[in-house]
Amino acid sequence: MWRFVHITDLHLASSRDGVWNNGFLCSMMPEVMDCLRDDLQKINPDFLLLSGDIVSNTTRESVFQARDMVESLGFPYYPLGGNHDCYSRESRQWFLDAYAHRLPNKKTWYSFTHKQTGFYALDPWWMHPDGSLSPSAEKKAEAMQQFNLNNMRWALPKEQLLWLEEELASATEESVCIATHYPMLSVPDRLLQLGFKNAGSLENGKVIAEKIADFPKVRLVLSGHVHANTIQPYKGVYHVTTSSLPEYPVEFRVIEVHDDQWKITTQKLSDPSFAQRSLLAGHDFTAGLPEDRKLSIKIENT
Ligand SMILES: [Fe+2]
Ligand SMILES: [Fe+2]
Repeated sequence: MWRFVHITDLHLASSRDGVWNNGFLCSMMPEVMDCLRDDLQKINPDFLLLSGDIVSNTTRESVFQARDMVESLGFPYYPLGGNHDCYSRESRQWFLDAYAHRLPNKKTWYSFTHKQTGFYALDPWWMHPDGSLSPSAEKKAEAMQQFNLNNMRWALPKEQLLWLEEELASATEESVCIATHYPMLSVPDRLLQLGFKNAGSLENGKVIAEKIADFPKVRLVLSGHVHANTIQPYKGVYHVTTSSLPEYPVEFRVIEVHDDQWKITTQKLSDPSFAQRSLLAGHDFTAGLPEDRKLSIKIENT
């Protein structure tokens, strides 16, 4: 058995606090990272998978500051970009400059194999009002996305979808995990009925979810962006989103890879005060229901 850890939406290198679904407390992240470093020592994962929004602010200096905070955790890691990391041509280049040594092919989308498990990291683009896609956001998005994501949309470009399908068709690994900052599926209706502030999902997410379901080796999709713990099975693939570190419940996921199954658990930080500081009354729905927090995926070796 070996394990890796899924951490997402760290929003590092910012002192700006605000409210999303709960208190969104970027200023506590240096302390959170200190606690996380100790907690990860006990778990001893092979690597960390960071599915985007690693940085919150939008300067080259912040990107590198966030990178240094991640490196201080002391584990190998694979970074993905989110809307806060990759909103402009400049910011994408900052991401590449900061993380070149951690990107298997020096690109923002990539694959790697770890102990017979295949991992595919995607980098969706911004969708503009006319439906076209580009790697950069509209100019006003940079400032606006600190407050709301209204009218902001993202989709996976055709080139990446074709690449993914080709790679999956010839994959030799026993099982496969896909990671993307933006979820493929929309959050469950249950959350929307509770007044959940929804950051959205990939515009072509359902199409991608259909396509990857054709490949039995694909068992898991890991995402962030919605700042909540959800688990949604779709045609044999489990779509898992994990909460954001500066926001209640301040948690991450541990994925144990056994020969015959993957066990996913949701882990709180050992210091509960961060989650308590963030929680707004009645908004504990970001932690998810019991079925959003624990999962066992059977792996049938072929
Ligand atoms: Fe985020
Ligand atoms: Fe995001």
